[in-house]
Amino acid sequence: MKGILLAGGSGTRLSPMTLAASKQLLPVYDKPMVYYPLSTLMLAGIRDIMVISTPEDLPQFRRLLGDGARFGVRFAYAEQPRPDGIAEAFLIGRDWIAGEACALALGDNLIFADHLSVLLRAASARPRGATVFAYRVRDPERYGVVSFDEAGHARDIIEKPAQPESNWAVTGLYFYDERVSDFAAAIKPSARGELEITDLNRRYLEEGSLHVERLGRGCAWLDAGTPDSLLQAATFVQTIQSRQGMLVGCPEEVAFRLGHIDAATLHAHAMSLGKTELGRVLAELADDHHG
Ligand code: DAU
Repeated sequence: MKGILLAGGSGTRLSPMTLAASKQLLPVYDKPMVYYPLSTLMLAGIRDIMVISTPEDLPQFRRLLGDGARFGVRFAYAEQPRPDGIAEAFLIGRDWIAGEACALALGDNLIFADHLSVLLRAASARPRGATVFAYRVRDPERYGVVSFDEAGHARDIIEKPAQPESNWAVTGLYFYDERVSDFAAAIKPSARGELEITDLNRRYLEEGSLHVERLGRGCAWLDAGTPDSLLQAATFVQTIQSRQGMLVGCPEEVAFRLGHIDAATLHAHAMSLGKTELGRVLAELADDHHG
């Protein structure tokens, strides 16, 4: 399975911070925002990842992420000239996807959950259909909203409904089978002129092959698209990390735990982070496994 990290858009809700910088490169506590969804894709076992961003911002992503060797993955890069919709990622990436199954992570979404790897592995192992994750929120009208029938099966998904039928928002992490680019090519732009990811999900829902995984109350899902949610995400990461001494959304750690890089390589990465707390924790992790 391949994975796309979508990090385009104009980030206007974070202006002026995004006038000269990509939203998805802004810090969420001690790491660039894009590290969090990158770690999620890696935890799903995905090692071929296409980063899509604007022509202006893409060079900065290359500078940050390189070819992927640091994390034991391979990055490809592609431009999205205009923010014409999330589902457009599957048209931009079509040749690169080359008929494989493909996941998509929005570059401003952060998911934190116990057993997340298990859920992600199950989603990526599903041979047919699509998997999305739903999360209970107070303000569902800001998101794609999924409603359920009495048996608990997904009944409908509507993008930013004025009158939401449930509180279950669809998060920015999606797994699709190998038909995804064909389905995306058949979508028509919405009233706001975008190829909507919700329309792609509806396509799978209509044929009965959309799996909706509900994330329970022990999970955190945050998007970092406004000043408040950016600060909330940063505070969340800081709280978990400083309390537990464990890292959240650190791709070097994920690479090491999955066996993509060895302890000596992790140690070298830790040293390259200088006198940061992040570097100290990674060095400790590498040394623990050396000795
Ligand atoms: O965060 C989850 C929500 O993401 C879902 O519940 C919605 O169904 C989905 O439409 C989307 O809603 P948003 O209102 O958050 O979409 P937004 O336009 O803000 O785009 C989300 C991210 O994707 C944002 O960081 C920018 C990036 N993006 C967006 C578009 C439309 C792109 O890179 N290219 C695009 O063309």
